[in-house]
Formats: sequence, C-alpha cells, structure tokens
Amino acid sequence: MSKNILVLSSSPRRGGNSDLLCDRFVSGAKEAGNQAEKIFLKDKKINYCTGCGTCINKDKPCPQKDDMAELLEKMIAADAIVMATPVYFYTMCGQMKTLIDRTCSRYTEINDKDFYFIMTAADNNQQAMERTIEEFRGFTYCLDGAKEKGIIYGAGAWNIGDIKGSKAMSQSYEMGKNV
Ligand SMILES: Cc1cc2nc3c(=O)[nH]c(=O)nc-3n(C[C@H](O)[C@H](O)[C@H](O)COP(=O)(O)O)c2cc1C
Repeated sequence: MSKNILVLSSSPRRGGNSDLLCDRFVSGAKEAGNQAEKIFLKDKKINYCTGCGTCINKDKPCPQKDDMAELLEKMIAADAIVMATPVYFYTMCGQMKTLIDRTCSRYTEINDKDFYFIMTAADNNQQAMERTIEEFRGFTYCLDGAKEKGIIYGAGAWNIGDIKGSKAMSQSYEMGKNV
C-alpha cells in the first residue's frame, strides 16, 4: 500500500550530508511506489515557540503567522515522518528543535506515525550520536502511537559531500524503499 512520507531536512546546508541522505530516502520511497516529499526547513519561516500559552491554556490556535501551520498539516497527514539533523555540539540542530517546539499547538494530532531519524556528524563514533537520538525520542514519547522504525547514522562526515559513497547512503535508500 502506498504511503505518504514527509521528510524534514533541517540542516542549514542545502545539499549537505544529511540533506543528501534525505534525498536517498526519498528516492527509495518513491521507487517503492510511495508518495514522498522532502521539506528543506531553511526554505520555511518557522519562529520560536514563545511559550505564550495560547494553545495550551486557552485551547486556541497558535497566534504566530508563519509556515508552521502548513508544516503541521503535513505532519498530521503523513503516514511516516523522517527527521534529519546534523549533529551540532552532540545535540540536534536548532532548526529541528525549533520545529519540534512549534508542534505544541497540535502535537496531540500527530498520532500513529512511523518515525525515521537521520543524523550526520564529523565524529566517526556512532555511539556519539545516541544523545541526539534520545532528543528525538523525547519528542516521539509525547505522541500517541509513534513507532520508531529506523535510524541512519551518517558518521565521519565533516564537509559537504563527505557522506557520498558511504554505507549510510545505500542504507538510507534501502530504508526508504522498505518504508
Ligand atoms: C555548529 C556546528 C557544531 C558541530 N558539532 C559537532 C559535534 O558536536 N560532533 C560532531 O561529530 N560533529 C559536529 N559538527 C559537524 C557536523 O555534524 C558535520 O559537518 C555534519 O556532516 C553536518 O551535516 P550537514 O552537512 O547535513 O549539515 C558540527 C558542525 C557545526 C557547524
């Protein structure tokens, strides 16, 4: 059955290592007959959550007028969500965290999704990326029916394109194909 897959690419480097892994995932997913869309978050305007409480305390929509409303619709409609980040100071990058915080107004509607995580880091040690995975898990822990289906560790990649030819590239394609 064809699935609707949303890929959130958060690196500020277009064509960077995690973005390239996202493209491989999308190619695999499409090859298998799914519908897959990659969103490069830098192309979108996503403000910080201000903690104003409008959504939580007053049960009203987020008052911020930016692209997050559109992204939330896509997240809610997706069968599977791929979240990709470069490792920055052994955590996820700020753009991804900003997106996660802004799901506050509608995160209770992001239900029953399959999740895939893609990370890239200069560090060769895969274990050094576990903290970043735990941060993603902090998000999915808050969602009903979230299933963690796969992780791509793009270790040992510093400069743009270093990831090319690595095992992570073929793993990402195969993961997309088997989504
Ligand atoms: C601000 C910043 C912080 C970084 N922190 C780390 C780090 O803590 N550990 C690491 O292994 N690599 C670190 N890196 C390297 C990136 O994770 C690496 O270049 C990665 O391939 C970037 O992915 P991208 O091309 O998708 O942006 C950092 C890079 C930047 C720019």
